[in-house]
Amino acid sequence: MSAALDVVDLHKSFATGRPAVDGVSFTVPAGEIVVLLGPSGCGKTTTLRCVAGLEHPTAGSISIGDRVVSAPGQGILVAPRHREIGMVFQSYAVWPHMTVRQNVVYPLKQRRTTRADADRKVAETLELVGLSEYADRSVVQLSGGQMQRVALARSLVYRPQLLLLDEPLSNLDAKLRLRLRDDLRRILKQTGMTALYVTHDQAEAVVLADRIGVMRDGKLLQMAPPADVYNRPADLFVANFTGASNLIEGRVAGRDGEFGVVEVKGGARVQAWLARSIAVGETVCVAVRPENVAIGTSNGSNAFTARIVGRRYQGTQTAYDIDLFGVRLEALELGTAARHEVGAEAPVSLSRDACWAYRDDKTATQE
Ligand SMILES: Nc1ncnc2c1ncn2[C@@H]1O[C@H](COP(=O)(O)OP(=O)(O)OP(=O)(O)O)[C@@H](O)[C@H]1O
Ligand SMILES: [Mg+2]
Repeated sequence: MSAALDVVDLHKSFATGRPAVDGVSFTVPAGEIVVLLGPSGCGKTTTLRCVAGLEHPTAGSISIGDRVVSAPGQGILVAPRHREIGMVFQSYAVWPHMTVRQNVVYPLKQRRTTRADADRKVAETLELVGLSEYADRSVVQLSGGQMQRVALARSLVYRPQLLLLDEPLSNLDAKLRLRLRDDLRRILKQTGMTALYVTHDQAEAVVLADRIGVMRDGKLLQMAPPADVYNRPADLFVANFTGASNLIEGRVAGRDGEFGVVEVKGGARVQAWLARSIAVGETVCVAVRPENVAIGTSNGSNAFTARIVGRRYQGTQTAYDIDLFGVRLEALELGTAARHEVGAEAPVSLSRDACWAYRDDKTATQE
């Protein structure tokens, strides 16, 4: 049975350095997939290992279902093997001297499942991960993607309460990686498994997650459905890390509810969504995704004229560098034909819904 995971104010400090996990709280309801996303060293694996019981938290509490498995304040620490969780890691943790079937049946043998029950569960699980035809192959004859499917089958076959996955696709080549990524969501949803998945790859996070938690320096900055993280990033770091690479500096000239006007050096005025704490008169940074810079259209709330200063044809899309009131921005246009010439002037519009003003935090854009 899938169970909910509840992490409350988790802290983990190692002997040296800053805390690896610094006050992280979140809940994964039963059957939901949560992906922790963030740059290298932000504390994703440490959080996951605390949930697994492989790392002892410094403070906070972790519950799986209605059982507290870790609460150092109360002296509670349940051993990993008693947490009823499945785990899949980056390295293919399969037994090389065994066949696919022997690998997958192993956890059932340990749990003393009857032969008939085990046969049925193994057959179902191999079907689920697409390996039915490979049951009697030695795992060393499999591709990396297939080995990861074996590892996945082995952690699903006994239906743990919770599945933990740490960058399970990162050793695969690009094509296999995309295939397994798409399959993985279907497999997890089909089993109704509660899953906590860790990655630094935003595309992976978006495809797999019901909700994404963005981490930085041991802290959880935002936890929300993928479309919310993409369209209303909580702060400049989340915006930048998830691809809103264009930054326009200015000063807030007025606010009207959620939106406001930002005046840029030189006097241009950009309508933007303003983060909640931003006040009139403050210096801000407006983040915009290259995909949301529309060249050739002059409709919308922010219509300007820009000069095309660079063009990189990329096959299915073209990236342009444009000069907009003295600020260099990147624009991405989908399509197999490049429509604009370098040197030309073109109308450009930025929907105010896609311009987000945050307090100007220089450190947010350095990673
Ligand atoms: N056993 C350990 N001893 C000391 N420091 C550690 C240990 N494990 C992790 N850390 C430190 O804790 C911080 C968080 O590490 P963690 O492995 O959780 O990051 P991560 O987000 O998983 O990064 P990556 O994307 O590179 O896997 C890092 O600064 C790391 O150096
Ligand atoms: Mg890691």
